[in-house]
Amino acid sequence: MSSKDSATFPSKRSSIRKIHYDKISKWYDLLAFPEKEHVKRGLKYLNVKNGEKILEIGFGTGEALLILSKQVGDTGKVYGIDISSEMTRIATSNLKKASLLERTNLMVGDALKLPFEEEFFDAIFMSFTLELFLDFEISTLLKQCKGILKDEGRLVVVSLSKKGSNKIIRNIYEWFNHKFPTYVDCRLINSKKKIEEANFKVYESEKESMYGLAVDIVLAIK
Ligand SMILES: C[S@@+](CC[C@H](N)C(=O)[O-])C[C@H]1O[C@@H](n2cnc3c(N)ncnc32)[C@H](O)[C@@H]1O
Repeated sequence: MSSKDSATFPSKRSSIRKIHYDKISKWYDLLAFPEKEHVKRGLKYLNVKNGEKILEIGFGTGEALLILSKQVGDTGKVYGIDISSEMTRIATSNLKKASLLERTNLMVGDALKLPFEEEFFDAIFMSFTLELFLDFEISTLLKQCKGILKDEGRLVVVSLSKKGSNKIIRNIYEWFNHKFPTYVDCRLINSKKKIEEANFKVYESEKESMYGLAVDIVLAIK
């Protein structure tokens, strides 16, 4: 495992997010507790096999990395990129405690400048991360994902969704997102549409609910 800073320089928005996630990293598992079941559900759709090379973008404290690194076995590898060095430190420590660090390769870096070879990964996973980006950034990110996935490679995105959310809860949430974007930073998006626009084939999708907000799980194929 190597944990190194990406050579690329993050954008201003990414730098602000780095500061924010560094600050909340210690409390993140507590704050994001309701999201955990949706992360696990999304991982089921990814259907990881022994020996595969998987990338997680925005891995946080490493909840999904722990599961993924068990699934790829000794012959596979799980790569991760996150803008927050503190999140990376916590994820690294969690993997070390579980004796799974050797199966991973984590780096601190900006998802908008992915430093990976073309057609390298069997699958990519993102949970509660795609919706942090603006529309044009989402297009950039998904285009990169397409490039670094092998042919028929899988992409699973778990994200908050505008469609299907309770109207009152959605309005309150979006008000907070608009007023305090640093703290309530996930937007309500239509991930399926974005993924299709990036020329992925959407294979399966599911809608779940989290306190009245809809959560979309989308499995797409390159
Ligand atoms: C809402 S958290 C989700 C964490 C984890 N995926 C989960 O579901 O618990 C978003 C994560 O994305 C990371 N992140 C935010 N902006 C990023 C960027 N531009 N590049 C890479 N990671 C980023 C944050 O540091 C944070 O760990």
